Amino acid sequence: MKLQKIILAATATILTIGSGFAFAQFQKPEDAIKYRQSVFTVLGNSFGKIGAVVKGEAPYNKDDVAKNAAIVAMMSTLPWQAFGPGTEGGKAQPAIWSDNAKFKAASEKMQLAVVDLNKAAQSGDLENIKKAFGATGQTCKGCHDDFRKK
Ligand code: HEC
Repeated sequence: MKLQKIILAATATILTIGSGFAFAQFQKPEDAIKYRQSVFTVLGNSFGKIGAVVKGEAPYNKDDVAKNAAIVAMMSTLPWQAFGPGTEGGKAQPAIWSDNAKFKAASEKMQLAVVDLNKAAQSGDLENIKKAFGATGQTCKGCHDDFRKK
């Protein structure tokens, strides 16, 4: 009996630490807004550099594109934790919270497209990079049309 109680108490403690941790990162909603906008800024910067190559405005350098695609891949996993309850604001549309399943689906679509883009970039196949870049760009636009204020 005693052991069971200890295990229960330990589990409760772990759960408390776990859930506290997810939100403790942002003291105020503004912190979450700043965080996600910063992530999107870095993401957009690297994505734009790949875009310049795809559009022929910058020469193709395999290492640069591979590096930027890796940054995009890492950044693509980060903004979503900063759209938690009570963090409305910035250019985020209220629909993110009222239709969260659709928002989540759009974020997953983007992350999958980015995985393809990163694969193409690491392999250094410019034709595949172009295709994957176009597909990824569609997922950015799709979500911005629905969930970002103009
Ligand atoms: C699932 C939805 C979603 C996807 C996918 C998405 N974005 Fe966004 N993006 C947003 C939202 C929402 C904002 C507004 C955030 C805010 O102001 O709080 C935003 C803002 C931005 C900003 C402006 C940041 C700032 O400083 O205000 C940039 C740049 C950006 N996104 C780039 C991209 C790029 C590039 C992609 C694709 C590779 C992308 N986003 C994919 C939802 C998305």
